[in-house]
Amino acid sequence: MAKSSKTFVCQSCGATFSKWSGRCESCGEWNTIQEETPLSQGPAGKTLGSSRGKAVALHDLSTAEAPPPRSASGIAELDRVLGGGLVPGSAVLVGGDPGIGKSTLLLQAAAAFSKAGLGVVYASGEEASAQVRMRAQRLGLADAPVKLAAETNLRDILTTLEAERPGLIIIDSIQTMWADNVDSAPGSVSQVRAAAHELTNFAKRRNTAVIMVGHVTKEGQIAGPRVVEHMVDTVLYFEGERGHQFRILRSVKNRFGPADEIGVFEMTGGGLSEVANPSALFLSERGQTAPGSTVFAGIEGTRPVLVEFQALVSPTPHSQPRRSVVGWDGGRLAMILAVLESRCGIPFAGLDVYLNVAGGIRIAEPAADLAVAAALLSAREDTALPAETVVFGEISLSGALRPVAQTENRLKEAQKLGFSTAILPEGGKAAGSGGMTLTQKPDLAAVVGDIFGA
Ligand code: TYD
Ligand code: MG
Repeated sequence: MAKSSKTFVCQSCGATFSKWSGRCESCGEWNTIQEETPLSQGPAGKTLGSSRGKAVALHDLSTAEAPPPRSASGIAELDRVLGGGLVPGSAVLVGGDPGIGKSTLLLQAAAAFSKAGLGVVYASGEEASAQVRMRAQRLGLADAPVKLAAETNLRDILTTLEAERPGLIIIDSIQTMWADNVDSAPGSVSQVRAAAHELTNFAKRRNTAVIMVGHVTKEGQIAGPRVVEHMVDTVLYFEGERGHQFRILRSVKNRFGPADEIGVFEMTGGGLSEVANPSALFLSERGQTAPGSTVFAGIEGTRPVLVEFQALVSPTPHSQPRRSVVGWDGGRLAMILAVLESRCGIPFAGLDVYLNVAGGIRIAEPAADLAVAAALLSAREDTALPAETVVFGEISLSGALRPVAQTENRLKEAQKLGFSTAILPEGGKAAGSGGMTLTQKPDLAAVVGDIFGA
């Protein structure tokens, strides 16, 4: 069978095509399709029946075959995001913008795991060994028993690993790795995919955990680590806003633990330090209660976290008013503005709306709807909410408030941080509210009328 020797691969999403085009049909990105030589195929003419694969009943798997227990690094924020420590033989992808602190985090993790007794090899394709050592010195980790390898050739790395047999290998970054059997430039989708495939295979075969760093770029110039996401067991994103010292490590996929778990760190002159009480940190910049500010009692992963929403509403000089959001979903903001307008008779036409989550954290929970609506109302009416008040609840298109999960945990966290009142939907299990005063409302119109008098 004649086989075309060329394929065209989208460098953004990894879709393959038989001919070049300017726009990827799969992800819609422009100018991301490049010609690549395909990965070598398996032996031709192989027939079924020669398989060595064998199925084993679940209950027949002896516990002797079970992998050894997880290793904890002792960095509690990291261990929790991993689902309680690193699973031997697992593959983890840590994605994030360049310069956000991935190398710093992983060097600290390497030192912590090695001090906890795990053999660690840190392979850096971005920095020379001397540079990594300098960074380690700066972080006060120069004495950690971590082995460094400034390598980009995958074959050399795998050879080193066969000899060293570490418990953990860190690859910084997957975009700099180069498999010599693949005929395209480092950082291309083919290379990234081949390198990730080899490394995860090695991880499973040798029971060595592998952590890969992947840069995410919006331009799609470098292959996004998205093509790797389905290959690995765990995908973590390291995020934060520039100009803020907070960094959030978030699990978006985890075969061995809960997804959406977060670990909070602070970038200091001496590296990343753990933030054990994120609520206190996110609210630390909050001064006097001002119009437009509300405190949302949220849940991130398994943990309650209090964050401040800030809204600003001002008359617009433009025909098309501005809707600007940082840290929340723009579509969701539009929905809440529409509900306020249609169900509560509060128009926002002719008004610019700015919404911001303080501290640089991103909130994705629909439970924040009511906190956003309250912030918008408070800004529009120029009325501050009563001090020591937290707000949460989901808003439906009808304007009704829906109870949200983990009401008790949210209230407990709020009380712990000195809040005394909560505005929330009716229903929901709020039995353990302790000393909190609960203002429960059936719909948004009731919140508008009773609390803002609008
Ligand atoms: P880095 O870990 O190199 O980012 P990445 O690997 O994600 O590209 O971090 C780079 C930034 O972190 C840089 O702007 C400087 C800052 N930084 C500190 O603030 N303190 C420190 O101790 C270190 C090592 C870095
Ligand atoms: Mg780096």
